[in-house]
Amino acid sequence: MVIYTVTAHTGKTFLAGTTSLIYIQLHGSEAESEEQNLNRLQGFLPGSERTIKINCMASLGELMSVKLYSKPFMGLLYNQWFCDKILVNTPEGDEILFPCYSWLDCDETLVLRPAKASLVFQDTNLIAQKQRMRQLEEQQKLFRWRVYAEGTPQVIDYETSVALPAEVRFSFAKESDFYYSAGKQLAALKLTGLADSRKSWESLSQLEVIICERGKTIEYVQEHWDEDEFFGYQFLNGLNPMMIQRCSKLPENFPVTDDMVKDSLRGSSLEQEMKKGNIFLSDYKMLDELVGNVVGGRQQYLTAPLVLLYCNPHGIMLPIAIQLKQEPGKENPIFLPTDSKADWKLAKIFVRNAEFGVHEVDFHLLRTHLLAEVFTMATLRNLPSPHPLYKLLFPHIRYTLQINIMARNGLISKDGALTLHAGVGGESLVKLLKRATASLTYSALCLPDNISERGLESVPHFYYRDDGMKLWNIINKFVAALLSHYYQSDAHVQKDTELQQWISEIFTNGFLGRDGSGIPSSLQTVTELVKFVTMVIFTVSAQHASVNNGQFEFGGWMPNYPTALRNPPPKVKGQTTEDSILETLPDVGTTVNGMAVLRLLSKDSADHFPLGYFPENLHDEDIPCKLIEEFQKDLRELSDLIEERNKMLELPYIYLNPKNVDNSVAI
Ligand code: FE2
Repeated sequence: MVIYTVTAHTGKTFLAGTTSLIYIQLHGSEAESEEQNLNRLQGFLPGSERTIKINCMASLGELMSVKLYSKPFMGLLYNQWFCDKILVNTPEGDEILFPCYSWLDCDETLVLRPAKASLVFQDTNLIAQKQRMRQLEEQQKLFRWRVYAEGTPQVIDYETSVALPAEVRFSFAKESDFYYSAGKQLAALKLTGLADSRKSWESLSQLEVIICERGKTIEYVQEHWDEDEFFGYQFLNGLNPMMIQRCSKLPENFPVTDDMVKDSLRGSSLEQEMKKGNIFLSDYKMLDELVGNVVGGRQQYLTAPLVLLYCNPHGIMLPIAIQLKQEPGKENPIFLPTDSKADWKLAKIFVRNAEFGVHEVDFHLLRTHLLAEVFTMATLRNLPSPHPLYKLLFPHIRYTLQINIMARNGLISKDGALTLHAGVGGESLVKLLKRATASLTYSALCLPDNISERGLESVPHFYYRDDGMKLWNIINKFVAALLSHYYQSDAHVQKDTELQQWISEIFTNGFLGRDGSGIPSSLQTVTELVKFVTMVIFTVSAQHASVNNGQFEFGGWMPNYPTALRNPPPKVKGQTTEDSILETLPDVGTTVNGMAVLRLLSKDSADHFPLGYFPENLHDEDIPCKLIEEFQKDLRELSDLIEERNKMLELPYIYLNPKNVDNSVAI
C-alpha cells in the first residue's frame, strides 16, 4: 500500500468556496487511483487548504494528471468552486504542482496537468498525448469562432457573457464592480435630467457642472483644449498617438502653399522645413465619404480632415493648416491659425471629432480589443495547458472575451451607446471597421517598426514612443529568454504542431488570410516567434493602456473629444461664431451620455493586475520563475524612471508607466 497526500487550494476571491461535493482521481502512467471525495460534509471556504490521503495498492507511476469533478451535496445543494491548485506529494517523495485557476461547475470535470511545461513532441507518454488532444477537442467545442461582420476579425460564438464558460468569465468582484459603476452612472444621469435633453449648451462653462470627478489631466484639458500647442501635443501623447507621421511631400489633395503658412514657419518654406524633417501630417482619409449617424433624431456630420503640423525650433508640435474634406476645392477651404479665432477653433473641433472615430473604432476597438480576442481564442483553442506559450499568455487573456461580448452588446449593437450617441456609430462604424481591418499590417502593430515607418524616431517630447519602446524592449527580453528556454532551436518551432495551428488561426480567423497584412501564417524560427509573441503581449497590455486609460481624462471635456457634430463643416471662412460652434457641438444629452461611457471605460477595474504581476502560479520550474522576477524588476525600474521624468512635466505622461498597465484587455 502506498499513500499520496493531496492538498486542494481554494481561491481567495469572494464566493470561491463551495458546498458541492468535489471528487478527485489521480492518473499515473501505470494506474489510476480510486475516485475520492475531497470535502466530505464540509464545504471549502475561500482561501482555504484541505489535505487528504489517497491510498493505492501500488505506485501509479509518473503522475500525468488530476481529474476533478463536482456533484451537488445531498443531490440538491451546489455552487461553483474556484480551485487555485492541487499539490500532490507522492510516495516517491516528489511534490507535484497541478495549477488550476478555474471555476468548476456542478457536474463538470476538470483535468489538470502538472505545472512543468512541455511542447507537444516532448510529451511522449501516450496518456499525456491523449490528454493533450482531448483537452484541445474540448476547448474547441467550447470556444468557437463566428463572423461578426464580413471583412472584420472573427469573434467568439457567444451572444451574451452569461453563456460564457465559467473559466473565462469575470470574477464576482469584477462583475459586481462593473455593474455597480455602470448603474451608478446611469442613475446619476437620470437624476440630472440631462440625459434626454436635445438642447444646445448655452456656454462651455456650463459643462463644468457635469464633470463629477476632476483629476489633474481633465483640468489641464479644460484649460488648454483650445490652444494650438495642446492640440499638437495630443498627436504625440494624447489618447491616440498613432495617426501622425513625418511628411516629406504634400498629398496632392492638400494644396497648402508657402504663402498660407509663412507666418507659422517664420519666413522658412514648406520645402525647406520638409527637408529638415519638421513637417508632419495627420490624414483621416479612412473616414472619407462615411455618412454621419442620426443621433436623437438629428443628422450628424463626419469629415475626413488633413492636418499639417510643424515641429518648431523649440520642439513644439503646432498645427499650421487644416482641410476638413479630402477633395480640395472652393467649398473646402484650408483653415489656418491666422483665420478668425472661431473659424480656426471649429476646424480643430472637426479634427477632434474625426479623432474620436479613428481612435475608438480603429486604434482602440480593432487594434486592441478585437485583436486581443483573436489571440485569446487562438490560445484557448490550440494550446493545451502544459504548453509554455499557454502559460506565458494565460495572464494576458484574462477577461477579454467577456469585456468584448459586453462591448458588442452595450456599445456597438443597435441600441448600444456608440450607435445612439456617436456620429460615427451605426452603419459607418462597421464600414470603418472593415476599412481599418483591410489596411492593418503586422509592422503597424510592432512599435519599433511602427515608429520608423512613420518617421518619428527623433521627434522631441514624444513620451508614448519613449516609454513604449522601453516597455517593448523589456517585454521582448522576457519573452526571448522564456521561449528560448523551451524552443532550443528553430526546428523545435517548426515541429510544434500546436504552435503552428495557433498562428494559422490568428492569420486566418483574425487577419482573414490576408497576405498583405504581413502577419505570418506559420512560424519558422525562434526569432520570428519571439517577435510575434512580444507584439501580442505589448498589444493587449501596453498598447491597450495607452489608448484606453485616458479616455475620460482627455475626452471628458467634451469640446476636446466630441462624439458627434450636428452641423456640416463650414464651406467658407468668416461665418463661424461662438454660437454656431455651440450649435455644432453635441447637444446636452449626447454630451452627458458620451461622458458617462468614457468614464466607465477608463475606470480602474476591480481585480486587475499590473503588467508582470501574475496572481496564478502556473510555473514551478526554476528558470521561468527567475525570469518572471527579472521581468518584474525591469518593470519596476522603468516605473521609477517614468515617475522621475514626469516630475519635470507640466502634464505627466502616465499611461505607459508599467504600474498603470494591465496584463490584459479587461475594460
Ligand atoms: Fe478598452
